[in-house]
Amino acid sequence: ALETSYRLLVFKQIFFRRFQQMTLTRLQGIADNYNVSYNIDAHFQLLTEQYQNISDNINGFKATAENDLSSLKFWTRKLQKKSKKLDLKVNALEKAVNDINRQQTKDKKEQKNQITSLFANKDKIEANVQILQEAVNGQRVKVDQFEEQVRTALQNDVKGFFFFFYNAIPTVSFLCPFLSVTSSKPPQVTLLLSQLFFTYTSGLVCNVKSMLYFPNSSTDDYVTFKKGVSTGIHELSICTWLQVGSGYLGTMLSYATEENDNKLVLHGRNSTTQTSIHFVIGDPAYRELPVDSLLDGKWHHICLIWSSIEGKYWYYIDRRLVSTGSKFQKGYEISPGGSLVIGQEQDSMGGGFDITESFVGSLAGFAVWNQALTPGEVSGIVMGKGLPRGTIITLDDIAEVKGNVQHIACGCLEYCF
Ligand SMILES: *[C@@H]1O[C@H](CO)[C@@H](O)[C@H](O)[C@H]1NC(C)=O
Ligand SMILES: *[C@@H]1O[C@H](CO)[C@@H](O)[C@H](O)[C@H]1NC(C)=O
Ligand SMILES: *[C@@H]1O[C@H](CO)[C@@H](O)[C@H](O)[C@H]1NC(C)=O
Ligand SMILES: *[C@@H]1O[C@H](CO)[C@@H](O)[C@H](O)[C@H]1NC(C)=O
Repeated sequence: ALETSYRLLVFKQIFFRRFQQMTLTRLQGIADNYNVSYNIDAHFQLLTEQYQNISDNINGFKATAENDLSSLKFWTRKLQKKSKKLDLKVNALEKAVNDINRQQTKDKKEQKNQITSLFANKDKIEANVQILQEAVNGQRVKVDQFEEQVRTALQNDVKGFFFFFYNAIPTVSFLCPFLSVTSSKPPQVTLLLSQLFFTYTSGLVCNVKSMLYFPNSSTDDYVTFKKGVSTGIHELSICTWLQVGSGYLGTMLSYATEENDNKLVLHGRNSTTQTSIHFVIGDPAYRELPVDSLLDGKWHHICLIWSSIEGKYWYYIDRRLVSTGSKFQKGYEISPGGSLVIGQEQDSMGGGFDITESFVGSLAGFAVWNQALTPGEVSGIVMGKGLPRGTIITLDDIAEVKGNVQHIACGCLEYCF
């Protein structure tokens, strides 16, 4: 449009130039024919002025038009530059697309190769998948069993559940998938689990393994051990938790050999006046140990330590040393090969029980060491730390549980009832 109007103006300019010439020529002619020379000058003056005005206008317009044109040219150049840049960009894009295509083709080829090699190893892979599948199935069966047991235990009672839970804890690898499974369990189960796990890991006494419960006095109720005393003993520690509500403390332990039925005895008897039990090391040598504080039906911990080096003994109740002394025979040896019984006093090896001397109550965490424990070790046991090394007998070594005695896995003392 701009160009068109500009052309029109140029045309007008040319036209006016011709018109001026023609006018002058004609006026000259008129002047020649008529005596009008007196106003020609005036007319010519006016015409010249008009022309000048028009010329000025045209010039002005020309200037603007030229400006417009130059700016148009400027923008055209810019546009050209821009389009050049765009071209470059498009080229770069094209190149990139080509590169990508080439890479994709290459990748496809590689994938093809891999797939080919995968198919080549198909049998191997299938075998591995089979193995994995079997492992997963095995794990699932385990988890299912675990869940089933948990459910049964929950239905029975919390105690039973905890026993099971405690027993499951050492198999951590087994427990881990179980714990992750619990998130899909009803919230109360998860809550109970976390509470039990918390109490297990908090400051409870969880080194007791299990407990023995003797419901009433009977010569049928006793416990024997798989392991005996295999070598001569010169130092000894016997520790156990005790719960006695029968008003007297019967015979906790007796060790009888062929030559002496009272090699080692913690001997008590049902009598209305009982204030002590006899700690016998090689009859007739014995010491009296006070038991009044043990007969309140609550759990108490006792440790009895003996060393033949100086013939000394130490008797702890609930970490406190309540009596100590010497005058046991120095260098005495408890000989091997005898019969160890919990709950009865043997008058012959493995028999000759007396109902009034039988044990009534509960024992938990019972253990024997063939060394003298230190006060710190005694404390550690009571505080629920791990058992000191060197046990020769624990409740894990039980051979037979006779009569109405119940052997209950409880793990933590707080869950032994
Ligand atoms: C034209 O007019 C002027 C005065 O107005 C006169 O002197 C002259 O003679 C005239 N010329 C002709 C050719 O008539
Ligand atoms: C020429 O333009 C001037 C100013 O723009 C104006 O005064 C004058 O009358 C114009 N002359 C004619 C013959 O149009
Ligand atoms: C001893 O306790 C058991 C189990 O509690 C019971 O079955 C039995 O009858 C009791 N015996 C006596 C003599 O009380
Ligand atoms: C202990 O002896 C008394 C009297 O002889 C008897 O009444 C009581 O039942 C006995 N205790 C146990 C637990 O057997």
